[in-house]
Amino acid sequence: MKGIILAGGSGTRLHPLTQVVSKQLLPVYDKPMIYYPLSVLMMAGIREILIISTPQDLPNFIRLLGDGVQLGIRISYAEQPHPDGLAQAFIIGEEFIEDDDVCLILGDNIFYGAGLQSLLIDARNIVENDKKAVIFGYYVDDPQRYGVAEFDQSGKVLNIEEKPHTPKSNYAVVGLYFYPNSVINIAHQVIPSKRGELEITEVNQAYLVEDNLHMQLLGRGFAWLDTGTHESLSEATEFIKTIEKRTSLKVGCIEEIAFSKGYVKSQELIKSIENKKSPYYDYVKKIISRA
Ligand code: G1P
Repeated sequence: MKGIILAGGSGTRLHPLTQVVSKQLLPVYDKPMIYYPLSVLMMAGIREILIISTPQDLPNFIRLLGDGVQLGIRISYAEQPHPDGLAQAFIIGEEFIEDDDVCLILGDNIFYGAGLQSLLIDARNIVENDKKAVIFGYYVDDPQRYGVAEFDQSGKVLNIEEKPHTPKSNYAVVGLYFYPNSVINIAHQVIPSKRGELEITEVNQAYLVEDNLHMQLLGRGFAWLDTGTHESLSEATEFIKTIEKRTSLKVGCIEEIAFSKGYVKSQELIKSIENKKSPYYDYVKKIISRA
């Protein structure tokens, strides 16, 4: 399975913060935002990753993460010149995906919770074995801002609506999607919505109609953090800071995940960070020396 991180968009809702820096490079406590979605893909065992961003911002992502060899993964890059919608990721990424299945994660989505790794592996298995799409729902107070699922009494998904005025439930569809290879064809058939975007909700709706959509609810014990407003961005920082301090472990530490999953050996990792000095890298060094 391949992975795509979509880190485009103009970030106008966070101006002037995002006037010259991509939103997905803004700090969330001790690391750039994109570390969190990247760590999710790595935890899912995905090692071939495409980062899609704007032509202006892409060079900064390349400076930050390079070709991924230091993490034992392969990172490639592609441009999305205009914010034409999430489903465009599969059209831009068509040659990268080839005939594989694919996981898309939004570059500004942060997930935290015990059992996240097994949830990701389960989703992968459903896609790879049953060729069904897997999406996740999360209870929110403000569903109007998201894709929202409607359920029947047995909990089966009936419909998904993008930013509905009168939401049929409080379950938002989060920015993490697992699809079989057929998503490329489906994305090509999506027509732009009223806001002029190729909506991911249309893709999900297509799988739903074929009865090939599995929706997993993220319940108690999971945090899905939003970074869309100044308020929620600062809350995300506070949340990560509190969890990291209290557990003495880092969230979204890509070097730690690469090491613990055996993508890199300790000597390679030590070498790649030997000249780096910050509490973040002190933590990575501590993890290696403890092992
Ligand atoms: C997008 C999707 C929406 C989803 C949300 C998750 O919204 O269109 O369905 O619930 O991401 O973050 P957007 O970020 O384009 O407003």
